[in-house]
Amino acid sequence: MTRAYPIDLVRQQFPALRRTHNGRPVAYFDGPGGSQVVSTCIDAMADYMRKGGANLHGQFASSVETEAHIHDARCAMADLLNVNPGEIAFGANATTLLFQLARAIGRDWKPGDEIVVTELDHRGNVDPWVTLAKDKGVTVRWIKVNLATFTLELDDLNTIINEKTRLVAVGLASNAVGTVNDVAKVAARARQVGALVAVDAVQAVPHFSVDVRALGADILSCSSYKFFGPHIGIVAIRSAVFEPLEVYKLVPAPAEAPDKLETGTLNHEGLAGIKPAVEFIAALGEGNTRRERIVSGYEQMEIHENRLAEKIRVAFANLRRIRLYQAPSAVQKTPTVALTVEGMAPSEVCQRIIESSSIFVADGNFYAWTLAEKLGINPTGAWVRAGLSPYNNEEEVDRFIEAMTQLAK
Ligand SMILES: Cc1ncc(COP(=O)(O)O)c(C=O)c1O
Repeated sequence: MTRAYPIDLVRQQFPALRRTHNGRPVAYFDGPGGSQVVSTCIDAMADYMRKGGANLHGQFASSVETEAHIHDARCAMADLLNVNPGEIAFGANATTLLFQLARAIGRDWKPGDEIVVTELDHRGNVDPWVTLAKDKGVTVRWIKVNLATFTLELDDLNTIINEKTRLVAVGLASNAVGTVNDVAKVAARARQVGALVAVDAVQAVPHFSVDVRALGADILSCSSYKFFGPHIGIVAIRSAVFEPLEVYKLVPAPAEAPDKLETGTLNHEGLAGIKPAVEFIAALGEGNTRRERIVSGYEQMEIHENRLAEKIRVAFANLRRIRLYQAPSAVQKTPTVALTVEGMAPSEVCQRIIESSSIFVADGNFYAWTLAEKLGINPTGAWVRAGLSPYNNEEEVDRFIEAMTQLAK
């Protein structure tokens, strides 16, 4: 069901929107780099520290409360990703968790084995696996990106993923160009040959509902600082994979999933903020269970974000000096728009837009390094990337279009 998107109510919940630059409210267009934080999450983190934090396993109230926060965070993430709470592990960020996981998963990889990564992905779901493959003498195969459509070349999937494949790492949504990949298709082929599937959902979770089971992912990573919460990485690991996994850990530390992957002391104040971040999405929706409200909340967000992103894409398609890097309209995309302006470095475009219009927009390759390399744009500073979040409004989008139109005249 379509309801009016409560943009004003949403904006009230993000204190960072009160920031000004050059006397004007800042428009945050760097959601893909990191979203702003919802006030309930900020309050929960501050409350945790104000009330007295603690480490785990104490007999005193603040320790018991800390464990309750972590339990709540696990349950919230389980609902967000449609897994069991015991399949959720927390860490410093997605990259660090994947390096840790790769080391454990690849313990028994040997020469002759193969892994598969993609040219479209952020290197965060490439290098943890490729580095280990190098150590173990394992062959790395790449799923190519089509530079005309910014989609993955999946035609020869049956050759690339074969009986020797141990793991396939694939992104759900591109952080640079926004393409949403057909992960279910890749995962189905991986399953045929008994390979594990590691899905990078860092740029998907901020925008649309993700169902780990429906995707067929064994491992799925995301980061709550991209979806209105704290700087914490999250990984969901299918219990049949997680339970037998021999991780690198301290001897006295817990040996069971999920705790065994959570080396050292976690970011407890951050964990207190995970549930509020998830609840922000759920509160936009309707339903009897939190999972139902999450799915419905995402639907509301998607309608709002996609309409605004389309407005930007249509406006820029008419500007001769702007080149858009995006998949054809039939391909699902996140509201992330990568572009270059003829004759101007991306850093200069951003500086001008920031100063003229108080729009915080970022430049660079954003670690979508292989794609930028193949396009030959790393030496020129790669892209300007405008990414929308649920708190962006029409006025901000119009301001951005106007500023870019002036600049690219
Ligand atoms: C698609 C994608 N994967 C992985 C990462 C890395 O995430 P983290 O900063 O949590 O390590 C990012 C960060 O921008 C990303 O956009």
